Amino acid sequence: MLMVDLIAKKRDGAELSKEEIEFIVEEYTRGGIPDYQMSAWAMAVFFRGMTPAETAHLTMAMARSGDTVDLSRIRGVKVDKHSTGGVGDKTTLVVAPLVAAAGVPVAKMSGRGLGHTGGTIDKLESIPGFAAELSPDAFVEQVNRIGIAVVGQTGNLTPADKKLYSLRDVTATVNSVPLIASSVMSKKIAAGADAIVLDVKAGSGAFMKTVGEAWKLASAMVDIGRSVGRRTVAVISNMDQPLGLAVGNALEVREAVDALRGEGPEDLTRLALTLGAHMVVLGGKAGSFKEGYEMLEKILKSGKALEKFRQFVAAQGGNPDVADRPAELLPKAPYRVTVPSPADGFVHGIQAEEIGLAAMTLGAGRATKESSIDPAVGIVLAKKIGDPVRRGEILAILHAGREDVTDIRQRVERAFDIRPERRKKPRLIHGVVE
Ligand code: URA
Repeated sequence: MLMVDLIAKKRDGAELSKEEIEFIVEEYTRGGIPDYQMSAWAMAVFFRGMTPAETAHLTMAMARSGDTVDLSRIRGVKVDKHSTGGVGDKTTLVVAPLVAAAGVPVAKMSGRGLGHTGGTIDKLESIPGFAAELSPDAFVEQVNRIGIAVVGQTGNLTPADKKLYSLRDVTATVNSVPLIASSVMSKKIAAGADAIVLDVKAGSGAFMKTVGEAWKLASAMVDIGRSVGRRTVAVISNMDQPLGLAVGNALEVREAVDALRGEGPEDLTRLALTLGAHMVVLGGKAGSFKEGYEMLEKILKSGKALEKFRQFVAAQGGNPDVADRPAELLPKAPYRVTVPSPADGFVHGIQAEEIGLAAMTLGAGRATKESSIDPAVGIVLAKKIGDPVRRGEILAILHAGREDVTDIRQRVERAFDIRPERRKKPRLIHGVVE
C-alpha cells in the first residue's frame, strides 16, 4: 500500500477500507508515514469527510495504537463521562461521586487544562494532599473498595491520536467532525469504557460554536459507539456562558462542593443530574432517564454524594474536610478585584471563551503545556445571562495573585454584553442523541 494512493483516494471522495485506515494509523504512529503526507490526508478528510464505517475504523485503530486500560477486574458496567470542553465546567467533580453513590463504578482518567478550558485533574489537585497518580493495581483496588477513583492519564494511551492531534493543530484540520469524533472516542475506548456519556458543548466557549455543529459531532460519536459496541449517549449543552459561577481550580472545587451539598448553581446541578441520570441508566442502575434523575436527586439530598466525595478525596491522599470547610481549607488568592457594570440593563451575553482566557491570564490555566498554574486564582461571576444589573453593581470578582490586574478586569468587563431590553435565560440542554 502506498500512502500517496490513499491520499488520492480520499481526495477524490472514495471510501477507504478498514485495512487501508489501519495501515495509515499504524504506519504514521511508527514513523513510516511523514507528517507532510499525513497533513495532506487530514486535509482531504477535512474536505471530503468520512463515512460512519471509516470513522469507526479510524477510532478503533487509534484506540489500539498504544496501551489500553483493562478494567475487567472492576465489577459492574464501567460508564465513562466526557465533556468536549467548556469554561467553568466542573461537572465531573459532582457527577463522579454522585453516580458512584448510586452504585455505578467510576474508574476515570481525566486530563489537565490547556488554553481557555480547565482540566479536572488540575481542579482536584487544588485540594491539599490530593494525588492524581495511582498504580494500575491501586486504581482497580480503590474502585472496587469505594466505587470511585479519578487519575491523570498514565501510560502510552492512543499515541496515534496524540501525534495526529498535534499535527491537526498546526495544519488547520482540527475542526473536522470525523476527526474530532474519532479522537475523543478512541481515548475513551482505550481507557476501558464499556459505555460512554458525552457532554457536547455548543456556544461561544466551546469547540462547536453552534447547536447544529454540536448535533453533528454528537451524532458522529454516538454512531461510533454503536458500531464498536459501546453504548453511547450524547447530551448537547449550552456553553454560551460559563457553567455555574466559578472559573479557576480551587474556586471550582468549592462550587462543586456546594452542588454536592445541594446548594450549587442551578445550571451546574441540573447538568450534573442529567449526565448522571444517563450514566446510571447505562450502568444498569435505573430503568429510565426519569427514574435515574429522581434517584440521583434523592442521593444528593441525602448527603450520600457528599459522603462519597469525602471518601474519594481521602482515598487519594486529600483532606476530606474540604467537603465541610472548603472556604477555609482550599488555597485562597491574596487579592480580590471587583468588575463593576458600566451600565444599567440586562446581561445579554457573556463570552465564555474570553472569561476562560482572562482566568488563564490570572494564572488559573495554561497557555502552553509547560506553563504552571496557580490553584487559588480565577473569576467568580456575580451575574449570568438574563440577570438585571445596575450601573456600578458587581458583574464578577477576580481572585488574583497580584494587585494590578487592570487589563484583565477590562477584559472581563468587555466579555459582558449589557443592553437595556430584557433577555430570557438561555436553555441549558439543547437535546440528547441516543
Ligand atoms: N478534543 C479531542 O480530544 N480531540 C479533538 O480532535 C478535538 C477536541
